[in-house]
Amino acid sequence: MTESKKSIYRGNNRLAWVTGAGTGIGRSVSSALAKNGWRVVASARSLQNLNSLREEHQPGMILPIPLDVTDCNATGVAVKNIEGDIGAIELAILNAGTFKTTPLSDFSVDEMMEIFEVNVFGVARCIRSLLSTSRRLKTIAVMGSLAGYRGLPKASSYSASKAALINFVEAIRPEAVKRGINLSMVNPGFVNTRLTPSYIPPILGISPDRAAQYILDGLEREQMEIAFPKSLSQLIRSTRHFPDDLYYKISRRFV
Ligand SMILES: NC(=O)c1ccc[n+]([C@@H]2O[C@H](COP(=O)([O-])OP(=O)(O)OC[C@H]3O[C@@H](n4cnc5c(N)ncnc54)[C@H](OP(=O)(O)O)[C@@H]3O)[C@@H](O)[C@H]2O)c1
Repeated sequence: MTESKKSIYRGNNRLAWVTGAGTGIGRSVSSALAKNGWRVVASARSLQNLNSLREEHQPGMILPIPLDVTDCNATGVAVKNIEGDIGAIELAILNAGTFKTTPLSDFSVDEMMEIFEVNVFGVARCIRSLLSTSRRLKTIAVMGSLAGYRGLPKASSYSASKAALINFVEAIRPEAVKRGINLSMVNPGFVNTRLTPSYIPPILGISPDRAAQYILDGLEREQMEIAFPKSLSQLIRSTRHFPDDLYYKISRRFV
């Protein structure tokens, strides 16, 4: 197997960095990577969640580094410390994200900025720090959402943030690939986590562990986009080709 074709399922103590690793999808991805032999630097704001994740795994497989991705300096320092003190990051899963419904009735620009700070600029800060510091980076996976495909009623700021990410990743991919870095856009549908309990009926969602399986399978295949579950992603993707007035007829039913 060539250097660039190493299997995601054989970590062999290679180093991954996962943001938003304390709960939900990031926790399940971190766990799956650790079980497949990766040493995982796990970041989020809550050290308590990271420590409990560490305790569930073999010693040395989960390495908690608390980080708020809205803090520009801290993000740069975290990546420098990882590269200097722990090892060279090969795989980065930029998953930290936040969600809020933002109905027009009490729409606030401050709230929109808060969402963009984490979902868009948080990812951009991590990518900037990785590109300037990492010595052996092979793959970056960015957590988007199927909500980034079309404007989601009552979740304008969230879906706009994910649309921005999808566009950002598309724009930087050619230069990243030229530098030898694969960029994967991960666009989940509904996953049952603490993020969206009131927005999504649990019956429509999949488990975070199932989501992690989709993500690892997609990374194994070096997919540019990892969208799941398949039927939902195809359905929502197809709405991108709907005429605007048809999409409006559907979306206005949700307000
Ligand atoms: N659940 C879904 O249906 C769904 C669908 C599509 C996409 N997604 C995306 O999947 C990602 C993970 O979400 P999830 O559903 O697993 O929800 P979650 O359980 O709430 O996970 C979000 C993670 O991000 C961390 N985080 C939030 N703000 C942060 C900040 N400023 N700095 C660092 N870490 C921060 C949280 O930990 P702390 O609070 O401790 O910092 C938490 O570990 C998000 O990007 C989300 O948009 C989710």
